[in-house]
Amino acid sequence: MNDIYSPERGAGAHEIIKVENVSYDYVSGEQVSRGVRGVSLTVRKGEFVVLLGHNGSGKSTLAKLLNGFIVPAEGKVTVEGIDTRDDKRIYELRAKVGMVFQNADNQMVASVIENDIAFGPENLGVPRDEIEKRISWALDAVNMSEHRRRSPNKLSGGQKQRIAIAAILAMYPDVLILDESTAMLDPKGRGEIMETISRLNKEKGLTVILITHYMDEAIAADRIFVMNEGRIIKEGKPREVFSDTEKIAEAKLELPVASRISAELRRAGLDIPFALTDEELAEGLCRLK
Ligand SMILES: Nc1ncnc2c1ncn2[C@@H]1O[C@H](COP(=O)(O)OP(=O)(O)OP(=O)(O)O)[C@@H](O)[C@H]1O
Ligand SMILES: [Mg+2]
Repeated sequence: MNDIYSPERGAGAHEIIKVENVSYDYVSGEQVSRGVRGVSLTVRKGEFVVLLGHNGSGKSTLAKLLNGFIVPAEGKVTVEGIDTRDDKRIYELRAKVGMVFQNADNQMVASVIENDIAFGPENLGVPRDEIEKRISWALDAVNMSEHRRRSPNKLSGGQKQRIAIAAILAMYPDVLILDESTAMLDPKGRGEIMETISRLNKEKGLTVILITHYMDEAIAADRIFVMNEGRIIKEGKPREVFSDTEKIAEAKLELPVASRISAELRRAGLDIPFALTDEELAEGLCRLK
């Protein structure tokens, strides 16, 4: 195991990402479409952050602003002190902030998995023996070591996404952004990815930013940001966010399953507390006399 990841986490950890009053619009000819407006946020090292919002609310735009794929029209984004507008440090920035997208097939370039993992570090100019170490480490981190010399074609959707994550991890990013990386997967595949990233976050202190449409994936977050029409309209721990039913409705989001059921049961007259998880719901029901 390498020691690049320190277990720095929690309230005392330093702010790795700073977004200060950032706006960005997509302009093409006469047409202007709103990307994000007046967004400010900070993410601490080792945090597990979830971005929620309905289609077109600006989540992917915000993600692309974080790794310098696009730069703010107004405001400022820094990652470990690097201004994303600094052209001279763009490769350093891209290596620090790794992104995994929805469709793993488009992210695979080689016919053998280990070559796929090597691709990123090779482009960073990492020496060959060091690349070998990184391949082993990254495949181990996503529990895919035994597939090292296989073709990515034979893998399940969940396995392909884990390889896509390993390919990013091999660049030793400080921040991993997953933009709806579980959207195309079945429940088993989604579970594998969630388990993998939650372990990387807890054990290695990897900072994770997860964009998802699944409310049940958001429950595990340290903090949730809710986006609506290009703005952040709510920020907080999962319980704070999901119990603000007004903001959830404004953002046109659903509640996690257990929260929805507990709310319905309360409306029907049962005296049970707001539940975030299945366990809390079961506990609430068991306490009923
Ligand atoms: N390349 C682009 N050119 C023009 N407009 C764009 C482009 N990408 C995004 N937009 C617009 O910017 C707004 C925000 O889009 P964005 O992709 O950030 O939303 P999102 O929250 O990621 O949505 P989704 O859940 O559908 O992925 C939308 O109105 C979208 O139409
Ligand atoms: Mg998107």
